[in-house]
Amino acid sequence: MGQSEENSKIVRENDEMIISPEFVEEKVEELNEVLLVYRSAIKEVRTKLEILDDELKIKRKRNPIEYMKSRVKTPGSIMDKLHRKGLEMSIESAKKNLNDIAGIRVICSFVGDIYEIAKMLIRQDDITLIEEKDYISTPKSNGYRSLHLVVEIPIFFSDHVEPVKVEVQIRTIAMDFWASLEHKLYYKTSGESPTHITRDLKECAELIASTDMRMQDIHNEVEKLR
Ligand code: GTP
Ligand code: MG
Repeated sequence: MGQSEENSKIVRENDEMIISPEFVEEKVEELNEVLLVYRSAIKEVRTKLEILDDELKIKRKRNPIEYMKSRVKTPGSIMDKLHRKGLEMSIESAKKNLNDIAGIRVICSFVGDIYEIAKMLIRQDDITLIEEKDYISTPKSNGYRSLHLVVEIPIFFSDHVEPVKVEVQIRTIAMDFWASLEHKLYYKTSGESPTHITRDLKECAELIASTDMRMQDIHNEVEKLR
């Protein structure tokens, strides 16, 4: 819809801008359609991950995935993010510029599982890897560790196919535990946390990383025992 056509939906009355109910209804419908697309993409990618997990459970008698969490960003937080990044605040702009409208977090037991799951997902024919950030091999300066993928998957509707992006964050239970607390701190302090807390958290991130590595080594040894 063009800009001038959109404006015609905004009625002026006594110098006050009144948005017509039809306009609001149309926007709400459009938004619901967009959110349906992202919910569908989450279902598709989750199912792929569940199938991989089930297959490995049978082949190796062990589930590499502990659990998954997923969410579609709320319209409010989509708009906040566009505003924060100085981007146009429209549905088209959100679809084009935001990679994390649909997000899945995959929690694994061992670091090796993270890379294995990622590799198996990426090599599927209908998955396109858009971006990969390995914050495990290269942690962020605050100590944050996770493997981030942005993948694109085609979603089939009644009359068209749409490629949709999904952000997949893969991490260990310990990394997830750390990230939750760090996230809470970040929000409580608006990013200006006391230095001793930042330092302690970073130290914990390093302890967690070395514990994750030792757990992986022990696990490898235990596997050899069978
Ligand atoms: P965004 O604009 O935040 O999406 O930046 P980006 O596209 O460069 O994203 P990046 O892959 O670095 O991070 C995306 C997501 O990972 C965030 O929305 C968080 O959920 C998570 N994340 C990234 N860095 C941190 C961090 O330092 N702490 C925590 N707790 N989570 C993080
Ligand atoms: Mg992002």
